[in-house]
Amino acid sequence: TSNTMWGGRFAAGPDAIMEAINASIGFDQRMAAQDIAGSRAHAAMLGATNILTDTDVEAIREGLLTVLSEIEGGDFKFSTALEDIHMNVESRLKEIIGEPAGRLHTGRSRNDQVATDFKLWVRDQFDAAEAGLLALIHALLGQAEAGADWVMPGFTHLQVAQPVTWGHHMMAYVEMFGRDLSRVRDARARMNTSPLGAAALAGTSFPIDRHMTAKALGFDAPAANSLDAVSDRDFALEFLSVASISAMHLSRFAEELVIWSSAQFRFVALSDRFSTGSSIMPQKKNPDAAELIRAKVGRIYGANTGLMMVMKGLPLTYSKDMQEDKEQVFDAADSWMLAMAAMEGMVKDMTANRESLAVAAASGFSTATDLADWLVRVLGMPFRDAHHVTGTLVGMAESKGCDLPDLSLDDMQSVHQHITADVFDVLGVQNSVNSRISYGGTAPAQVREQIKRWKEILA
Ligand code: ARG
Repeated sequence: TSNTMWGGRFAAGPDAIMEAINASIGFDQRMAAQDIAGSRAHAAMLGATNILTDTDVEAIREGLLTVLSEIEGGDFKFSTALEDIHMNVESRLKEIIGEPAGRLHTGRSRNDQVATDFKLWVRDQFDAAEAGLLALIHALLGQAEAGADWVMPGFTHLQVAQPVTWGHHMMAYVEMFGRDLSRVRDARARMNTSPLGAAALAGTSFPIDRHMTAKALGFDAPAANSLDAVSDRDFALEFLSVASISAMHLSRFAEELVIWSSAQFRFVALSDRFSTGSSIMPQKKNPDAAELIRAKVGRIYGANTGLMMVMKGLPLTYSKDMQEDKEQVFDAADSWMLAMAAMEGMVKDMTANRESLAVAAASGFSTATDLADWLVRVLGMPFRDAHHVTGTLVGMAESKGCDLPDLSLDDMQSVHQHITADVFDVLGVQNSVNSRISYGGTAPAQVREQIKRWKEILA
């Protein structure tokens, strides 16, 4: 038998394989609430514009509420033969209220319907992402405040570069996640127009009120071009792009936590709540959450690339290819939200090992730049010469197997005779970080300024 929704011109129903490749109900049932919200807004508008009678609209409204509670209660029977969430809902509505159900689709198409549902779903995810990022930023601020003046090595090339403060390192991530937050807000503002009423592609001859449905669904305005409204998915791609960038930040931090929690580094201890053990090695405490964050990022990039590929060759307007937008976005959204929550939990719970950080900060000739700067500042040496003298001293310390502050004044003067004893003041790690007072620098005073600034931004 042919399809009751569109089978008028069909003599036979679809092949089982056709049904299998065509159906999206297995995944788009996640948009049930959005679909019903869209239908309710549409029906109310059809009543207000006298396209439908108040009696029909009331029957539709009540029927849709029943369908929603059936779905939420878990006793709704989804049917693959009915393809997608839109037709599953409408078909059940017909069983409940009869004939008026058939009037709901007046002045509407599944093309504007699915674009509307999906936008509503993605918009909720932008909101969830905003909340997740804010929570993570607050957790980082907590770490930064606790250790604003704790010293640790700063790295370039993963080689010790200069001492920095723990708070400064935490605040670097606050900046990154803060930009992610602003990207989320920008993208949400840009996507907030309503496709509903674009109908199949050309608009409709019914006197609908798209401003009314847009407002009812919390959109800022109706989408201005009906062809565009049903055929673009850039809102989903922007979600995936923003998610990809943010996931990249999460992954870099996750990578650092994996390194930092190792026995070789001991910079942090992750909490039991966010670690796992080994079934064979009793001593193990593994940073699995960090590793999984690092790995889940791949799924998000995959979704971004995947949907770009789906969209890039499609002529306007709707093509069924676009049904492949949802699973990508659903999976990426789930991965991103979970990664953010796991990172927040780890950051909140982790304990920085202040002693290990301080020992590491002082090793690897981390204050060599301070020594070179001293030669410039005090002896008036050109920086290039100072760099060379310092390099010679580093080489000397390396061959003696000690750090720079362990060299004697005689050692120093054997390389450059005008060096005086107060050079040792700048070789201390705490002095080094305290001296980096330029705006945005690692000095604890600057870090506290950064924390203060962010608290004001978030207040
Ligand atoms: N399940 C479809 C999708 O997700 C709904 C839109 C179908 N539109 C159509 N003209 N076949 O894209």
